[in-house]
Amino acid sequence: MDVLRIRGGRRLTGEWTVHTAKNAVLPIMAAAVLTPDTTLLEDCPLLSDVAYMGEILTRLGCKVTRNDRMLKIDPQGMDSHEMPDELAKKIRSSIFLLGPILTRFRKATVTFPGGCEIGLRPIDLHLSGLRQLGVEIHEEGGVIHCDGRYMQAGNVHLDYPSVGATENVMMAAVLLRGKTVMHNVAREPEIVDLQHFLNRMGANISGAGSHTIVVEGVRRLHGISYKPMPDRIVAGTMLAAAAITGGNIHLKNVPVEDLHAVFSKLREMDCVLTQHADAVVLHAPERLRPFARLQTQPHPGFPTDMQAQLLALATVASGTSILVENVFENRYGHAGDLNRMGADVLINDRTAVVKGVKELYGARVTARDLRGGAALALAGLRAQGETIVEAVHLIDRGYERFEDALAALGADVRRETVTDT
Ligand code: UD1
Repeated sequence: MDVLRIRGGRRLTGEWTVHTAKNAVLPIMAAAVLTPDTTLLEDCPLLSDVAYMGEILTRLGCKVTRNDRMLKIDPQGMDSHEMPDELAKKIRSSIFLLGPILTRFRKATVTFPGGCEIGLRPIDLHLSGLRQLGVEIHEEGGVIHCDGRYMQAGNVHLDYPSVGATENVMMAAVLLRGKTVMHNVAREPEIVDLQHFLNRMGANISGAGSHTIVVEGVRRLHGISYKPMPDRIVAGTMLAAAAITGGNIHLKNVPVEDLHAVFSKLREMDCVLTQHADAVVLHAPERLRPFARLQTQPHPGFPTDMQAQLLALATVASGTSILVENVFENRYGHAGDLNRMGADVLINDRTAVVKGVKELYGARVTARDLRGGAALALAGLRAQGETIVEAVHLIDRGYERFEDALAALGADVRRETVTDT
């Protein structure tokens, strides 16, 4: 088991370049099976979720190889429509493959997917979207059988703008004859990136980033080489890391247009941010100011994937901050450990009341999910003494060598492998 050992108290300073986005790469990997040709993903980050998705594709018969930061997916040999159960349980994004598998085989078998323990995360919206395209679905003992023989383009309405369901339906519709109009879809930037990717492959999709997506079916897609968008959540996390230490950093390769909600909260906390075309410079104050209210919402609202990091900042602000988590029902797993470090966080259902304290103190804490784990590491950067963050494998799902990124900006942090005795 790996842990992060952090000695707090150093201000982060310097320059760092953001890697490509996990949430863009994963659906694009699924979309790669929509063509018989080979797809190349440039600057593909070294994340465990990407590795798991690669393993799933391999088990389905694809050839997935990595050459340094280039990922190559050759789906020629894909011969299975059954999602490998034990791998699918490891990442929720396995569900993205449902649409592409159906397109390829007109049938698919999946079990309920896994992922971070941050809520119920059902897949009813995915299934409802596919049903509206004519897929017949029945469930038997936790196994979902999909019959796509009668799939056809048409109107799809999502009851809630789920990111994954939007991407799944988009991929299922891309090779259907005729026009599919998707209503009440999610507007996240990674969906726009998926649209770019598919259109570069020969698809005819418009509207991603708005509430309605129109997919005009095409006959065939071809292989391309593509560089996914930079990771807005990694960018936000690094800014938060600098902010909690009173530091100043220059981040490069930042999707600035996708980060307005995060920038606005950091400014409310008295950070000075200077935006450039694809970079941002942050100067943090000596003591952060609390924010009045932070509510997570679908994009362009404040992203749920940045809630834990901002909560960590609020623990050391000069007053009380209120957070409301609207997207997931169980996303305050980090609060208990922050309190063990001296924070004053009170959780009531979806609301967190955070009274800022002057100091945090190092402790042994455990990541419970990806972003919550990152938030604990941030608290460790600020805390007096040593913090040990356990279950780093959860942080590795979405941050490429997080310890190296923080150390490059001057943090005293290292990874250690501990063996159980
Ligand atoms: C994606 C992101 C994740 C982010 C989330 C919300 C990827 C790989 N992951 O996850 O990092 O936190 O968007 O921005 O892109 N829901 C249902 N039924 C469904 C699907 C979702 O009830 O069929 C609910 C979920 O339980 C959750 C909410 O809808 O409460 C949002 O989920 P969704 O937008 O689907 O998130 P993901 O695509 O899983």
